[in-house]
Amino acid sequence: MSTTLPRKLFVTTALPYANGAFHIGHIMEYIQADIWVRFQRMQGNEVHFVGADDAHGTAIMIAAEKAGVTPEAFVAKIAAGRQQYLDGFHISFDNWHSTDSPENTELSQSIYLRLKAAGLIVTRTVERFYDPVKGMFLADRNVKGECPKCGAKDQYGDNCEVCGAAYEPTELKNPYSVFTGATPVMRPSEQYFFKLSDRRCVAFLQDWVNTPGRLQPEMVNKVSEWLGNDGHDLADWDISRDAPYFGIPIPDAPGKYFYVWLDAPVGYLASLKNYCAKKGIDYNAFLNDPATEQVHFIGKDIVSFHLLFWPAMLKFSGHPVIDKLKVNVHGHLTVNNEKMSKSRGTGISPLRYLELGMNPEWLRYYIATKLNAKVEDVDFNGEDFVARVNSDLIGKYVNIASRSAGFIAKKFGGKIVSDWATASDAFLSNLRDAAPEIQALYEHREYGKALRTVMERADSINVFVDANKPWELAKNPANDGALQEVCSRLLEAFRILTIYLKPVLPELAKQVESLLNIEALRWSDVGTPLPHGHRVNAYSHLMTRVDPKMLEALFDAPELASSAKETHPLPSPPPEGEGENGGFANNKIEALAPEIKIDDFSKIDLRIAKIINCEPVDGSDKLLRLTLDVGEGRLRNVFSGIKSAYKPEDLIGKLTVMVANLAPRKMKFGVSEGMMLAASAADEKTNPGIYVLNPWPGAEPGMRVR
Ligand code: 2FM
Ligand code: ZN
Repeated sequence: MSTTLPRKLFVTTALPYANGAFHIGHIMEYIQADIWVRFQRMQGNEVHFVGADDAHGTAIMIAAEKAGVTPEAFVAKIAAGRQQYLDGFHISFDNWHSTDSPENTELSQSIYLRLKAAGLIVTRTVERFYDPVKGMFLADRNVKGECPKCGAKDQYGDNCEVCGAAYEPTELKNPYSVFTGATPVMRPSEQYFFKLSDRRCVAFLQDWVNTPGRLQPEMVNKVSEWLGNDGHDLADWDISRDAPYFGIPIPDAPGKYFYVWLDAPVGYLASLKNYCAKKGIDYNAFLNDPATEQVHFIGKDIVSFHLLFWPAMLKFSGHPVIDKLKVNVHGHLTVNNEKMSKSRGTGISPLRYLELGMNPEWLRYYIATKLNAKVEDVDFNGEDFVARVNSDLIGKYVNIASRSAGFIAKKFGGKIVSDWATASDAFLSNLRDAAPEIQALYEHREYGKALRTVMERADSINVFVDANKPWELAKNPANDGALQEVCSRLLEAFRILTIYLKPVLPELAKQVESLLNIEALRWSDVGTPLPHGHRVNAYSHLMTRVDPKMLEALFDAPELASSAKETHPLPSPPPEGEGENGGFANNKIEALAPEIKIDDFSKIDLRIAKIINCEPVDGSDKLLRLTLDVGEGRLRNVFSGIKSAYKPEDLIGKLTVMVANLAPRKMKFGVSEGMMLAASAADEKTNPGIYVLNPWPGAEPGMRVR
């Protein structure tokens, strides 16, 4: 497959089922794809990165029924919860849509009709398990019973979790419906099949998988195995399900719906189409453009759908993207080399990670160091995580800026000198020369190798730091010239390293761009140094270290939830006769808000924040603008109506408490990213003061207030 520049890329990740929140496996996949997407954007390529909820199927229909809502309402609720994860981990999808959408219905039905016209759809009557009480056909996992091999009870209809045997649901002993407990009966049903065994499909797939650059070598081998015996072992694919089913109706087949896996991958196209309509992009022209490439990121558990059915569907419906399709398969996320388990306390909840105030870029970096182009599992190890982040990101990378930027700002008015730059400046040219190698590694998803190369370069810059010791130079004004030069070189090195790390650390890169007072960095900026005389801004903290204690809290999620109740008991009800206020304040205080449960309280994330800056707001006589550090590795902008009570300079450097998970609020003067807590009397006449909260000594930015 050849590429022309700039490339036109249509990138997707597997569409998550809309029956639950994202888990850490989703986030890992999104991080992998997002790094690639951001890298491509930095190259100046046109990228459309789209996702969607995989909304159909029995599981979602049943979950909605249990929740007492329609499947549409159920799916909408799940969809509404997605953005906090995507924003939280800086996943930059251009569009998020749903397979339960008009675009997907239209595209799925039209693909199906073309497959039918190509003679690749057949119907056959098959016997299926049917729940006579619920009045529906049962999917394999809707039936349980005793394993036909080892006799273990309560095993699903497809395989035994005790002995690992795979079988048909009809082979279970004493089968029962998971919905009603009724014994299922066999019922004939006419089913629609996609003829994957057709010679045309087999011949096409044999050729398709062997196109260089399309699939990883392991995947070529896997598909070749499936296609072995000249494809005679391939079975036709049952693409229909009987009502009741939450799905897309099959045209001219009353009571029949597409099996969820038929319309799920079509959802990639549906999301793109929806996005194109919103952006005024010509969807058909984009897909028909010979330069367009379609790139899927998926997990190893769903390869048969993406490497057999999906390409065959695209090919024989005459879809233009078939020749442009590349599939990147990754392994699963394990913890200490074991499958994650909630009961063992090894599960990582992405939301909890964010709630703990852990920096999302730590995880992005750590996962990236572990990723390569192979279909290998990625292991999360707590000690390794702490070591990588603290030693690489803080010790090697951030260290370069923290050793140099402050001196430039304080001693030289932010002015960079670069008239020393010569071709023989090996220190920086070595760093620049690494660009093509790092570029190729990102392109081929060898992120671990790319980051190792970057950190090796950071090591040699730190050798320069230690050899020149800016902090020693700064002691004697006679060395000012040397100090300015050393620090300017270091900031130039830091700028180049930031370009190399930007696909992985997009928010940190933004902070660096603001520190260096430059436009958003592109890959091509590697060779354009900060000009002589350029002024950088004052240095402020870029990223905090990981506190290993956070890791303990991350893994102990289930236990922590219950122990929190023990260590923070609900207040006892007031003793009888003492009234609502416990007899203390003679009802002079504001009436208490209605009682809440501890779970309600724990929704409010209160954090210790350091006031990094505080200033009046032009045009407002009430507000102060505060820059708060909540230990996240970024600073927050918060407006607070405390101008009448405090001089800005008295607040700078103090610690306080803020509501850290309040949705950002757009105000007349800018966006407020949280709320600072302050006490005030209900009645201004009794006490007109406003009192900002200030924790006892020892509290640190980022600590949660519980
Ligand atoms: O395995 C899953 O989670 C599926 N929902 C993935 C679908 S990917 C695509 F085909 F939509
Ligand atoms: Zn068994």
